[in-house]
Amino acid sequence: MMALQKHHFSLFLIFMMSSSVICHITVVGEDPLSLFYEGGTFKGFIKQSTRVLSLKSFEKLSDLSSSDKMVNVNDYGAKGDGKTDDSQAFMKAWQVACSSGNAVLVVPQKNYLLKPITFSGPCKSNIIVQITGTIEASDNMSDYSKDRAHWLKFDSVDKLSVKGGGTIDGNGDIWWKNSCKNNEKLALTFYQCNNLIVEDLTIKNGQQMHLSFQESENVEISGLIVRAPGDSPNTDGIHITNTQNIKISRSIIGTGDDCISIVSGSKNVIATDITCGPGHGISIGSLGSGESKEFVSGIIVNGAKFSGTTNGVRIKTWQGGSGSASNIKFQNIQMHNVTNPIIIDQNYCDQKTPCKQQKSAVKVRNVMYQNIKGTSASDEAVQFNCSENFPCQGIVLQNIDLQHEDGGGTKASCNNVKLFYRGDVNPHCP
Ligand SMILES: *[C@@H]1O[C@H](CO)[C@@H](O)[C@H](O)[C@H]1NC(C)=O
Ligand SMILES: *[C@@H]1O[C@H](CO)[C@@H](O)[C@H](O)[C@H]1NC(C)=O
Ligand SMILES: *[C@@H]1O[C@H](CO)[C@@H](O)[C@H](O)[C@H]1NC(C)=O
Repeated sequence: MMALQKHHFSLFLIFMMSSSVICHITVVGEDPLSLFYEGGTFKGFIKQSTRVLSLKSFEKLSDLSSSDKMVNVNDYGAKGDGKTDDSQAFMKAWQVACSSGNAVLVVPQKNYLLKPITFSGPCKSNIIVQITGTIEASDNMSDYSKDRAHWLKFDSVDKLSVKGGGTIDGNGDIWWKNSCKNNEKLALTFYQCNNLIVEDLTIKNGQQMHLSFQESENVEISGLIVRAPGDSPNTDGIHITNTQNIKISRSIIGTGDDCISIVSGSKNVIATDITCGPGHGISIGSLGSGESKEFVSGIIVNGAKFSGTTNGVRIKTWQGGSGSASNIKFQNIQMHNVTNPIIIDQNYCDQKTPCKQQKSAVKVRNVMYQNIKGTSASDEAVQFNCSENFPCQGIVLQNIDLQHEDGGGTKASCNNVKLFYRGDVNPHCP
């Protein structure tokens, strides 16, 4: 079932990128990296990502000022007793905040119960959602019969900041138990929100995904704690689709699925200082399911710690797709007992029936792995299972040291891959 859901999701791709790239690579003539490396930096996408970081509007966005209009949900009838449905009160308060200049929607330190709700823009001006209390999802499944795709959704709200140290609780138990019957993508969703900040929040027990960023631009995510049990199905931490210029930093993510998944149409993603586990690791893909054409590029993961996850850094594509996953850098990563620390799978098949051999493939090229150390739970710490017709191109391993968790060395399994080594690399392909 999970396979099927994933399959439907595969229109999305996620990527991550990191800032402050320090490279010790000497570019030689035929090095495939010279395509995207220049003077020791990634050419195109670093330029673009620094644009995200220096975006002036962000400073103003997240700082409260005395001229802001405070709109407290309690003043619009919210009870905050954890039992009463506060959806109408939130809706009224949102409409007031959204139509005021520079407003703050205040969610104080109580426990608010919400049914599915959409906070729509465009709003008159900047808007801050200041959550110090807890927002909890209704656990009555019939509340979701109208819209099975969203719980909390921000739609077309520009210059939005959501923060405050509070908690968003998806109350997911009931969904996990019924996960075979469902095909929903319930999440805290940001759809077409440009210039967005999401920071200092705990997001837990998501019904399905925890956070979903779709078709947005210029996004800064930091200081999040995302938590669900390791055996909760399909509970991706942060899912990124068709989103550009996104930075994720200082976040701790442990769920039953991918910590971060970057799917179709995502570009310029930087992830720094990420702690991941339990879960399935950081994934680019899956891409190319149902013979789709999908692209992801400009991803940096710089500074991550994986503990007990099934994968570390993974790229996965289905046979029969087209498009590409390119210009990707994974660096400064610690692995602790990770089953597949480094993996590219161009033969990804997550469905009940076997996938048939197909000629076409989503191309994978220019992927750098740098400073990746620690332990693997399996013998094969490095796996490149690439396509026969479109081998993985420009794959660079630099300063890699992966030992077996139980002591002893590890192996690399390498099919159809064009590899380059730098520095000390262990394990090597046979
Ligand atoms: C769930 O919601 C439906 C429709 O609003 C209602 O009839 C039912 O009593 C609720 N169930 C519970 C357990 O509250
Ligand atoms: C390492 O991971 C494996 C597989 O997930 C697990 O069985 C084992 O108990 C873990 N070892 C430690 C020391 O945590
Ligand atoms: C690579 O993919 C092929 C085709 O799906 C599969 O048969 C094989 O087991 C995979 N190899 C590894 C090492 O995962």
